[in-house]
Amino acid sequence: MSTNSKKRSSRARPGHRPGESVRVLIPNARVKQRLRQLGEEIRRDFPTEPLHLIGVLKGSVFFLADLARELGGEVSFDFLSVSSYGSGTDSTGEVKLIKDLDVSIEGRTVIVVEDILDTGLTLKYLLRFFEEKKPKHLRVVVLLDKVERRIADVHADYTGFPIPNEFVVGYGLDYDERYRNLPDVCVLQFGPRAKSKSG
Ligand code: IMP
Repeated sequence: MSTNSKKRSSRARPGHRPGESVRVLIPNARVKQRLRQLGEEIRRDFPTEPLHLIGVLKGSVFFLADLARELGGEVSFDFLSVSSYGSGTDSTGEVKLIKDLDVSIEGRTVIVVEDILDTGLTLKYLLRFFEEKKPKHLRVVVLLDKVERRIADVHADYTGFPIPNEFVVGYGLDYDERYRNLPDVCVLQFGPRAKSKSG
């Protein structure tokens, strides 16, 4: 293998299909920089509390892993999974629990870690679900917020980046389970040769 082909690491290839392309919206370095600030903001509000992070699978995995390392002090985590019904990229707001929490959150300081806030319908369901379990504090951190898409009356306590109404992938976010491994947050663009999800 030549030095050049070694240099062209597999990370450089986004793995897109015909008709799909990606454009970097937020480079990984900028994400990491913002996570340091978010970690400080959260710790400023809860300087000594043990924090229990709850990641919403699967989009939040890299976000949670990186954010957790920016939070000093005692930190634990758990994950849950939900599915939203709808067609294509639009949700009907009907949410179903796929994987429940492993441990009780009663009396704990809980930080819900979500990849992206879109209509807000998923978060609305989750907040009701968590509130019933009587945590001591319940806060929400989202990496991305598509502010103009909001339907439900919910907001995040900590937001990484407000973004325009475009479909984004990478840094954990997917399209049809692909692109999660891109290090940057990217806009997914469809050309004439793009196959449909079912195609
Ligand atoms: P909401 O219930 O409409 O707020 O949708 C939240 C969920 O929809 C997120 O957790 C994502 O899984 C998914 N989602 C919304 N917008 C995007 C996007 O631009 N890219 C990838 N997934 C998205």
